Amino acid sequence: MPGPRIHVDPASFDPWKIQAVTHALSDHPLLQIDALVELGRRQQERKLVRTHSAAATAGTSFADAPLLHPNARDAVTTLADIEKANAWMSLLNVQADPIYRRLIDEVLDEVRPIVDRRDPGMCYRAGWIFVSSPRTVTPFHLDHEHNFILQIRGRKRLYTWDPFDRVVVSERAQELFHDQHSRELVVWDEAWRPRARAFDLAPGLGGYMPSTTPHLVENGDGPSITMSFTYYTDATRQRELLYRGNAALRRLGLEPRPVGSSPGHDRVKHTVLAGYTSARNAIRRVLGRTIRENSQPYAPA
Ligand SMILES: [Fe+2]
Repeated sequence: MPGPRIHVDPASFDPWKIQAVTHALSDHPLLQIDALVELGRRQQERKLVRTHSAAATAGTSFADAPLLHPNARDAVTTLADIEKANAWMSLLNVQADPIYRRLIDEVLDEVRPIVDRRDPGMCYRAGWIFVSSPRTVTPFHLDHEHNFILQIRGRKRLYTWDPFDRVVVSERAQELFHDQHSRELVVWDEAWRPRARAFDLAPGLGGYMPSTTPHLVENGDGPSITMSFTYYTDATRQRELLYRGNAALRRLGLEPRPVGSSPGHDRVKHTVLAGYTSARNAIRRVLGRTIRENSQPYAPA
């Protein structure tokens, strides 16, 4: 049986600290360009492709980049010619594809015992494959999931900022992101760059980014393939609920205590919010309404 594909030091793994990892996935047949062209064809049919041109910069709105800087070519054409395509492409939620879901399960099942010891409740598994032309940029942004990001081919510089750095991303910006999934207040400033921890990624290297780690990626001079394995845990779901609770308090005109400033206060608040949420969901179920679910085994595509 092969060893684990992601190498994480169990002694130093901290779910809320950015850290370097190494991996053994660079030669995996499913992550070579021919296989990704075929996956791109399937993901295009599922409408699970996000793409923009090489014109996007660090400060481009992450949400609007595909509209502001469109890549006119389809997934197959772009992927097959990625060296010259002048494009950034992400195959989204590849757990929607049965073949790639198996890969995600294999890789995350291996790493799960290390994660679980400090951060139980892994769920909402997902995979994201980034294929990008030389010198393309992934604009500054953050995501909800914990993320093992692994470099498969080519080189890139990954800039990361501590998820608790409230100079780079304010408490209010975190709150809006958790409550509305809006990155409107997550705004790039060149002054953030010296505060970053940068990783020079090459095949076999990667990083672990906790939920809501601000990041920015700049490609090297060649084409690049990167894959992210992501998930939620009990702690990320609790944190999201606390921020949503704070957003609700703010709508009532109150100034809520920042999440994390008082663990005791957070515990009480979480108990109240969890009780309120399950009562509200029970009512919505009776009324046949949709429920915001974030504890499924896989993220819905
Ligand atoms: Fe991201």
